[in-house]
Amino acid sequence: MPPKRVAIVTSSTRRPRLNPTITQYVHDVLASDPTIPTKHTHDTTIDTDPRHITLEIIDLSAQSLPLYDESVIPASLPASDPTPHYSKAHTRAWSALVRQYDAFIFVTPQYNWSIPASLKNALDYLYYEWVGKPAGIVSYGSRGGRKAADHLRGVLEGLRMRVVGTAPGLPVKFTGLPVGTLSEVEERVEVDERDLEGWREAGVEGMMRNLGMELVCELDK
Ligand SMILES: Cc1cc2nc3c(=O)[nH]c(=O)nc-3n(C[C@H](O)[C@H](O)[C@H](O)COP(=O)(O)O)c2cc1C
Repeated sequence: MPPKRVAIVTSSTRRPRLNPTITQYVHDVLASDPTIPTKHTHDTTIDTDPRHITLEIIDLSAQSLPLYDESVIPASLPASDPTPHYSKAHTRAWSALVRQYDAFIFVTPQYNWSIPASLKNALDYLYYEWVGKPAGIVSYGSRGGRKAADHLRGVLEGLRMRVVGTAPGLPVKFTGLPVGTLSEVEERVEVDERDLEGWREAGVEGMMRNLGMELVCELDK
């Protein structure tokens, strides 16, 4: 049985941005936890453990989705195979990508007490590709992005996703909020060591592992 594929979604699309660094942090915490049955994507041995998962990163900035311009209503398409019915090539590509994954962890900043428009836009493009799949939320912001996480939970529940209870929020207190000029090559934004230490002390990494195990349990159902 092939491992179940879990996508960790980088949701902001501006440059420079903190999101890729936080996404990688979430990935590394989960991948290094021996209790989460992660199979590394480069591991080609035949898989016999039905609980195995892979962790892969999807960056919304690489999808180049315009502001919603579909002429069809996603929820009105055939549930079993919506992909060919979209009117736009970018929607068909996004649909085909999302259909490959069994579960999602959305890593979102807080923008004005909610999620970035890029994430809402990417979610709105599809419907049956999300329905019934397990989802986890990791938020960040000056106080952990709780309002963004709560908004996102409502949106994902509207898409009939099975949102797990644990939703770590990462307060960003010392890391400078990234600002700068747009460059061709994205520069990595480093998290201030004091923020990392604060997250560890607050048990955020343990919450991430709980989130990971909740997803594994949901995938096992
Ligand atoms: C448009 C905008 C709105 C923001 N609103 C909030 C907010 O409501 N609460 C908060 O804690 N931080 C807010 N911030 C700060 C962001 O959480 C912070 O800049 C973070 O780095 C954004 O993630 P990103 O770098 O991946 O885009 C806002 C930032 C932007 C760009």
